[in-house]
Amino acid sequence: MNNIDNIAPIISQQPIVLVGMMGSGKSSVGRRLAEALGWDFVDVDDEIIAASQMSIEEYFQTYGEAEFRALERRVLTRLMTEKPCVIATGGGAFISEENRELLLSQSSVVFLDADLETLWARVKDKTHRPLLQTANPKASLTAIYEARLPIYQLAPYHVPSLADQPHEEVVNRIINSLGRA
Ligand code: S3P
Repeated sequence: MNNIDNIAPIISQQPIVLVGMMGSGKSSVGRRLAEALGWDFVDVDDEIIAASQMSIEEYFQTYGEAEFRALERRVLTRLMTEKPCVIATGGGAFISEENRELLLSQSSVVFLDADLETLWARVKDKTHRPLLQTANPKASLTAIYEARLPIYQLAPYHVPSLADQPHEEVVNRIINSLGRA
């Protein structure tokens, strides 16, 4: 059976948007969720890279975070008008009130909830995240996590993303929670 049959009909007509911290698994889980549903997958950061012909790091350095957020918003706005797909957002996308209103009204928003130690284990050896290029990246991650957690919790669907949990399991949990809506 195609997994799309397990999703509530109303939800199957709108994009599924994954939100959560850097390292919560939005892109890898999103890609597998899209495969399971037979949908397209879009990664917002990849769209920004394609549109600007720059890495996220270069984009931040050249234009600053405010311009990055503006481009992120334009990409999200466009994606809401296209054929339903699974969308992995960057960790900051759901934090803007304007984006939140857009996503909550036009898509099914799923918060991938990983604890701080899991997030740190996943991001600590990666160097491509501008917000963690600080003297104390763990302190930066902690501060971002604490500030954002209450906002991510505004998402209607919450799915744990635990250390060592196979992506397939997270995908199944998402499908189950969307099915119960
Ligand atoms: C950001 C997360 C990144 C990327 C940018 C900003 C954030 O995406 O969009 O570095 O504000 O948390 P990932 O969550 O995919 O790492």
